[in-house]
Amino acid sequence: MAAPSENMSALLLDAPNRTATIQTIPVPIPGPGELLIRVHAIALNPVDALYTFKPLGSSGRTVGSDFAGTVVSAAPYHDEKSPIPSFSPGDRVSGFLQGACSINDRPGAFADYLVCPADLVWRIPDSMSFEEASAISLCGLTAAQALFQRLGFVAPWDTTFKPATPAREFYALIYGASTSVGLYAAQLLHLSAKHSNTTVHLLGTASPARFDLLRAKPYSYEHLVSYRSPDWPAQIRALHPRNRGVDIALDCISQASTVGQVSSTLRDGGKLAVLRSRAAGAWDASLVPAHIDPLYDAVWRGLGERVQYHSMVLEANAEMRQFSRAFYRWLSSGDGSKLQANPVRRMPGGLGKVVGDGFMLVGEGDAVKQAEGRREEWMKPISGEKLVYSLV
Ligand SMILES: NC(=O)c1ccc[n+]([C@@H]2O[C@H](COP(=O)([O-])OP(=O)(O)OC[C@H]3O[C@@H](n4cnc5c(N)ncnc54)[C@H](OP(=O)(O)O)[C@@H]3O)[C@@H](O)[C@H]2O)c1
Repeated sequence: MAAPSENMSALLLDAPNRTATIQTIPVPIPGPGELLIRVHAIALNPVDALYTFKPLGSSGRTVGSDFAGTVVSAAPYHDEKSPIPSFSPGDRVSGFLQGACSINDRPGAFADYLVCPADLVWRIPDSMSFEEASAISLCGLTAAQALFQRLGFVAPWDTTFKPATPAREFYALIYGASTSVGLYAAQLLHLSAKHSNTTVHLLGTASPARFDLLRAKPYSYEHLVSYRSPDWPAQIRALHPRNRGVDIALDCISQASTVGQVSSTLRDGGKLAVLRSRAAGAWDASLVPAHIDPLYDAVWRGLGERVQYHSMVLEANAEMRQFSRAFYRWLSSGDGSKLQANPVRRMPGGLGKVVGDGFMLVGEGDAVKQAEGRREEWMKPISGEKLVYSLV
């Protein structure tokens, strides 16, 4: 692997102007236990656009989360109590960083080079492109945290659990089944069920245009309803043979009335995980019955770092870091085909087009309105796809 020159291009936050621009900055230097990685592909997440157009903290930080690339060098590290995976120059890896998605000053991923702890990347299988791999790390971990840490399903890599006897049966709802997180949640739920000898009846909401994708493997939905039908919660409840409601639900949108609507599909004692926080006011808490506690966490805590927004602080959590390590170790193991990457839309133009094109599509409010006026094929609304850019 050729040694990088001293400088590189990176997409840096310009907070006063609520945008990000390409600037030349020094190539970062990896610290103990970290890898220097040449970035080949990046994937866009709604938060990348959100905190570029509504910045938190200071300018000059590299934006962006998801990446895939090749290892350039690994800084020496030795700790017998906490060994980390070893990587060599040229290894293909994927991971995510927090970037400018908090007040904390941690560089993000949208740059020619980045540094990342070696235990927080996973090995990309030969059969997977950099673009596909870049679409997995953040949303795959988000889905895994929701299902295995918050909703209590058995992780496919957990060999310590005792199989339930008699075998258990669950009705599960994924609201927003065609979202990036939802597509990984469906796959992980099926893998968990197989691993733990559990039967899962998987129900989902999405646009009818996505039903064929979602009925097929690896998502294998048993029933789907359109979230645009006003009575969709009643339709979901009716899918249980005794109209009892679902045992667990994951709301992959968690916005406005969705958490209240999803709550109404739960059986007594059912559990609900959400992806956006009540504290940030993303959803209408008055619509959620008092006995239901929507379980939220932020994927960033999987990086093992303290995360600070304006009024909210999420403390670093070693257990969540261990969970991420286990998830990425599992993704790296065996034949490497544990999770199928979401369908990707390869966006033209590289780093220079991320804000003007990609962020218009994954952003909110004015950005969406601007995107609606665009006629290029790659600017159509996102549905069951991840936007990716090649940087090499
Ligand atoms: N807690 C965390 O740490 C965390 C991590 C990752 C993401 N998130 C959040 O989770 C949400 C989903 O992220 P993502 O990247 O998975 O989304 P995404 O892939 O960009 O979502 C696009 C999909 O949203 C669906 N959709 C839009 N409005 C909907 C509605 N009202 N009801 C149902 N579906 C709707 C569309 O479905 P159709 O095409 O079928 O209409 C489309 O396929 C975002 O708000 C994101 O910020 C949170």
